[in-house]
Amino acid sequence: MLTRLHSQQADGYKLWLKYDKIENSELLNEYAEIVNSIYFKDDSHILKNAKKEFSLALPQMLNKQVNYSNNISSDNSLIVAVYENLPNDLKELVGKDIEVLKDEGFIIKSLTYKKKSIIVISAKKDIGILYASFRFLHLIQTHKKFNSIEIVDSPKIDLRMLNHWDNLDRSVERGYAGFSLWNWQKLPEYIDQRYIDYARANASIGINSTVLTNVNANALVLTPMYLEKVEALANVFRGYGIKVYLTARFSAPIEIGNLETADPLNAAVEKWWANKVAEIYKRIPDFGGFLVKANSEGQPGPQNYGRNHVDGANMMATALEPFGGTIIWRAFVYSEHDDTDRAKQAYDEFLPYDGKFKDNVLVQVKNGAIDFQPREPFHPMFGAMKKTPLAMEFQITQEYLGFSSHLVFLPKLFEEVLDSDTYQKGKGSTVAKVIDGSLYGNTLTGIAGVANIGTDLNWTGHPFAQANWYGFGRLAWEPNLSSEIIADEWLRATYSTNQDFIEAIKKLMLTSREAVVNYMNPLGLHHIFDTGHHYGPGPWVDNLSRPEWNPVYYHKADANGIGFDRTPSGSIATEQYASFIENTFNDINTIPEEYLLWFHHVPWDFKLKNGNTLWDGIALKYQEGVNEVTNMIRTWDDAKPYVTESEYHEVKMLLQIQLKEAKWWRDACLLYFQTFSKKELPKGVEKPTHSLEYYKSLKFPFAPGIRPQWD
Ligand code: GCU
Repeated sequence: MLTRLHSQQADGYKLWLKYDKIENSELLNEYAEIVNSIYFKDDSHILKNAKKEFSLALPQMLNKQVNYSNNISSDNSLIVAVYENLPNDLKELVGKDIEVLKDEGFIIKSLTYKKKSIIVISAKKDIGILYASFRFLHLIQTHKKFNSIEIVDSPKIDLRMLNHWDNLDRSVERGYAGFSLWNWQKLPEYIDQRYIDYARANASIGINSTVLTNVNANALVLTPMYLEKVEALANVFRGYGIKVYLTARFSAPIEIGNLETADPLNAAVEKWWANKVAEIYKRIPDFGGFLVKANSEGQPGPQNYGRNHVDGANMMATALEPFGGTIIWRAFVYSEHDDTDRAKQAYDEFLPYDGKFKDNVLVQVKNGAIDFQPREPFHPMFGAMKKTPLAMEFQITQEYLGFSSHLVFLPKLFEEVLDSDTYQKGKGSTVAKVIDGSLYGNTLTGIAGVANIGTDLNWTGHPFAQANWYGFGRLAWEPNLSSEIIADEWLRATYSTNQDFIEAIKKLMLTSREAVVNYMNPLGLHHIFDTGHHYGPGPWVDNLSRPEWNPVYYHKADANGIGFDRTPSGSIATEQYASFIENTFNDINTIPEEYLLWFHHVPWDFKLKNGNTLWDGIALKYQEGVNEVTNMIRTWDDAKPYVTESEYHEVKMLLQIQLKEAKWWRDACLLYFQTFSKKELPKGVEKPTHSLEYYKSLKFPFAPGIRPQWD
């Protein structure tokens, strides 16, 4: 059995780039031969970083110094160079593979060259070599064999973005891993090693864009004082193929530009943005563009001036166009002046604009129509907007999934959404195909993940939350990758390559998402979180100023039953889907049970597929969620020999919090819903330990993820 040394540093800082020594001597020999004589052409910033990663990782993993040669010769065992720098005879050997690559793609290939078997890593551009280098090192980390290897790989999606909801005061909206990484006060002079390691980690999984600031934006970031700091970050990230984006506050022309209006059709406003954009590109020639949250949750936008989303987005897109920049316009909108079902509002507001946005506008849509719930049906805008490129917005930070205390493997959720069939162009019109552009032939494609990264030593708070960052990047590169493969890759690079360990913990990760659905929001329940901070259950909350901010709006429990009727007898939200989905969801007998209460108000006595009544079914699901966490703890205990003492304890403590909170969710929700159902808890469901009044009385004024209050 492979027991890792307990003295080994295991604070999680190195993420999945730990590069542990290979213990298996057969593999060690094989790899040593491959890296025996490396030709690595490194005549650019990006290539230097790629080679640096080789020089860091290989000696650690292989316990030997690496030899680089200055010329390509028959001695080389590994050749790393962009295609145009390969000698003609090698070009001939790899030419066909290179042709099919996108600019960021690469090949890793074993072939016979000058009668010797060698490995060639090549690409069209430097960035491809960087991605290939990380992949090559990952293959070694995960003990892959190289004989007859043939990887020809390109990303399916162009903009693979992290969205940081980081404020300039370094608080992070919905951040549970400390403060913002960006040390604005010490920038631009002080370059924290963290910026470099952040960029390395992102490049290793193919992330190529980062939005540094919160969507609830502060215009100050667009002033010269901050732009100088942004430039310093961009200079670091450029060497890892990462473009910087900023959030643009729509009212910036007023707040920092001394204009009286931010009306997108006003000539002075247009000019202000054009000048601002030119100023940014002067500093950051490869600046990515702006992410904009407009007319949403109190943010300013074109509607303040009687204009619409197209007017706003296109005005800014015009300013960015000459520089090749992109506007990412968010579709997360719902209005306090509109009493239609919140789930319908984004679709209603955006569909009329389909095809009207400029070519450099991407409309960014959350995965579901409400807000990053443990489970949501896919957003009906996917597939329905046929003439507008849509970017996916996932939330990696766990606002509604237990913050950084719960182990929830999100690639399982992401995969479920990406695999969902919209039926908008017949069967097989998956969300993945909408996003990667293949369904409607878009040329601009994007996917964003709201980052879960902060100043915590291990970056993400929960060590397993690193897998969510990792998995997001992998799916952004290849949206059809299975969550199981992602879990496997991440575990091997992060913890151990022992097969027994991998199998057990992979299973734990893959069931963790369903567990959280069960103990928080089973059978299609949603948004029953406590007010503001969203920490813990608050299904009883009914006193917030906007109706759709109250959990009672979403579950609609009463003496008859529970659930939001979104069928033709209710809000008719189902009609926003293609007819096959619409019909399936409308019929209480055909709707998948995991969405039941999302679309139907269902009597407590309704018979579920397994024969239980709805009330018993809900109660048993809550219990199942708790039991699943108990099993996760058992599995982790069994894994103790494969991880270090500190790694074991860290996760164990967190799992115990998760168990406590899973029980809290079960007890609080069931006691509350019982006041309507007036039914006993079924056999098998544990009795609550406290009263409903107790759960209602819990207050958390200092819960993380919202702006800290210092008094
Ligand atoms: C959620 C979240 C907010 C965030 C908003 C958004 O409502 O709670 O903190 O600003 O989404 O995505 O814009």
